[in-house]
This record gives sequence, C-alpha cells and structure tokens, in this order.
Amino acid sequence: MTSRLDLRSDTVTRPTAAMRAAMAIAEVGDDVLDGDPTVRALEDRCAERLGMAWALFVPSGTMGNLVGITLGSRPGTEVALDAQAHVIHWEIAGAAMLAGVQVRPIAPAGAVLRADDLRRGLRPPSPHAPRTSLVCLENTHNGAGGAVTPEAEGLALRAVAAERGLPVHLDGARLWNAHVATGTPLDRLAACADTVMCSFSKGLGAPVGAIVAGRTHARADAYEVRKRLGGGMRQSGMLAAAARHGLEHHLARLADDHTAARRFADGVQQSVPTARVVPPNTNIVMIDLPPGVAAADVVELARADGVLLSQWHATRVRAVWHLDAPYHEAERAARTVGEAIVGAARNPAAS
Ligand SMILES: Cc1ncc(COP(=O)(O)O)c(C=O)c1O
Repeated sequence: MTSRLDLRSDTVTRPTAAMRAAMAIAEVGDDVLDGDPTVRALEDRCAERLGMAWALFVPSGTMGNLVGITLGSRPGTEVALDAQAHVIHWEIAGAAMLAGVQVRPIAPAGAVLRADDLRRGLRPPSPHAPRTSLVCLENTHNGAGGAVTPEAEGLALRAVAAERGLPVHLDGARLWNAHVATGTPLDRLAACADTVMCSFSKGLGAPVGAIVAGRTHARADAYEVRKRLGGGMRQSGMLAAAARHGLEHHLARLADDHTAARRFADGVQQSVPTARVVPPNTNIVMIDLPPGVAAADVVELARADGVLLSQWHATRVRAVWHLDAPYHEAERAARTVGEAIVGAARNPAAS
C-alpha cells in the first residue's frame, strides 16, 4: 500500500511541528490598533530582501496583487498583462470590480511575456481608446509551468513600461522559486517592479499570508487599500511567525522541489513520448496529453493509484512539487502518471 501523494498544488502543505511551535510562541500585538511586533519585523525583513521601501503583510496573494494594482493603476484605465496571468484567470475579476480597471491580455510569442511582446501589445495612445496605467508581470509564471523570467528580461520589460511612463506590479507569488532556481538575489528579481507580491503559503509552507512591498507609493496608501479590503489583522504575529519560519527554514529546500519536478517530468516524458511535458524551470510540471486523452480521465486514474493531479484544462494536467511531496517519490509519481495516461488513452471514460 503506497501513501497518497498530493501534487495538485504547493498550497496543500501543512505547517510542520516546528512551524506550529514558532507560531505558538510568537510575540503579538494588535496590528490594527498600534502594531504587532512579529508582523513589523517580518515586513521590515521582506522590504530589505526585496529592495523595497516598505512591505505590508496581507492575508493572501490575491489581496497583495489587488493592493499593488490599486496603487499603480487608475479606475477607468487598463492594466497590461500576459494573457495567461493568474490575475486574469484566477482572481475572479477583482481588478475590474475593486480597482476599476480592465485587463489587456497580451499573448506572448514564447512561454512568457518578453519586452518585444509588451512593446507590441501596449495600445498606442488614442483619445478614443482606454489608457494603459500599469503593467503587471508574473514570476515565476504559474500558467506557463513555473517559468522563470530572468533578471535581465525583467529589466527589459521595465524599460518598455518606462518608455510609456507606466509603473510595474510584479505578481511574485513564487518569486522565491525564481530566486532559488537562478541564484539571483530577490532584490534584483524585484528590481523590475514598483510593487511586488510574494506568497508565504506556497513553497514556503506557511498556512496563510503574503507580502506586498513597494518603492514608489507610500506604505500608508497600501495600508489604506488593505484596510478597505478587510485585510486588517489583529494578533497576526502568529501568522507572521509561520511566514518567518518558512523564510528561514524552507527557502533553500525549494531546490529539492525543482529537482523532483525535473525527475518527474523526465520520467513521464520517457514513458509517454506522445505527451508533451513542458520542461520545468522550477516546481510546476504541465503535461499536454496525447491527442484524444482527456485530462479528467488521467486525473481520475492517477488518483485511484494514489497520485493527485489537477486538471489545468481539458487536455492538460498540472503537478506541483512541494514540502509535503518528497523528491524521492518523483520516479513513483512519474510511473503512476505515465500509466494513467496510457490507461486513459486505451480506455477513455465517459468524461
Ligand atoms: C501566480 C499566483 N499569483 C497569485 C496567487 C494568489 O495567491 P492566494 O491563493 O494566496 O490568493 C497564486 C495562487 O496560486 C498564484 O499562483
């Protein structure tokens, strides 16, 4: 009997005993009233590591993105993004509803948005068309299989935005993974942005929380947006302690997730040459299934054999490696998923 391996997302991790212990002993205050010392220490540390003037602890990555988008944009304008951006597809139109902007999806020529794509995709100024007020980037890029935008490309994107006088928000939910994969310091990866969001509840293994940090706007403005969104938290030092623990103990080990993702991807590709496995830069593996194979069938067959995947769309499945998915399981997972694809091809279900 093999144990269940949950590769649906890196958000499924449970806080370790050491993380829970750190939470239990955290010094706390009322962060809405006059400050929580553990939260403030985390914010200061993140601002420094990201090379930003300030940082603000928020309950989720979605809220962090919304704070950055609200600060950088203006209602009645548009935000330019990669067509597969998380902000467009998985944040239920919060930017439209709450920041009052529309999104302008730009389809990149390659896996992720590059400077040439942005230059081509930005609307020429016209009195008859919406103005663009903000560019939003994503690093690593979830929909592109955890693809990394290297420092130089980020700066090239920023230069194109600057030509048009546009600020940049960076959805860096997994910027930690980009940092570990490239060895580039976090502040240099964030140098392309005016505001950046990084998540603690993914690869770092914390139960809750993200940081939004900025250089050009005032922290008080970000604080106001968070408060308006209902994101003021009181004795949140307990959550900040989990985030700090993740930063101190789970950052370097992201390299293990990247190794596991590569082994798993190679294993699936070798066992099913007709599938197209996107070679992973980091911890996310996207598998485009062979013609006629339904993602729902593969997910079901793999689940029955103890490996949980997520269906990305009708013909693509996603596997994400993380703290609770040990890398020595990569070969077993590749075998199981390979067999599930072959089984789904041979015997398609009604789905
Ligand atoms: C790239 C990216 N940005 C933002 C988010 C949103 O984070 P949260 O789920 O904490 O709201 C996610 C979550 O998966 C993500 O993958």
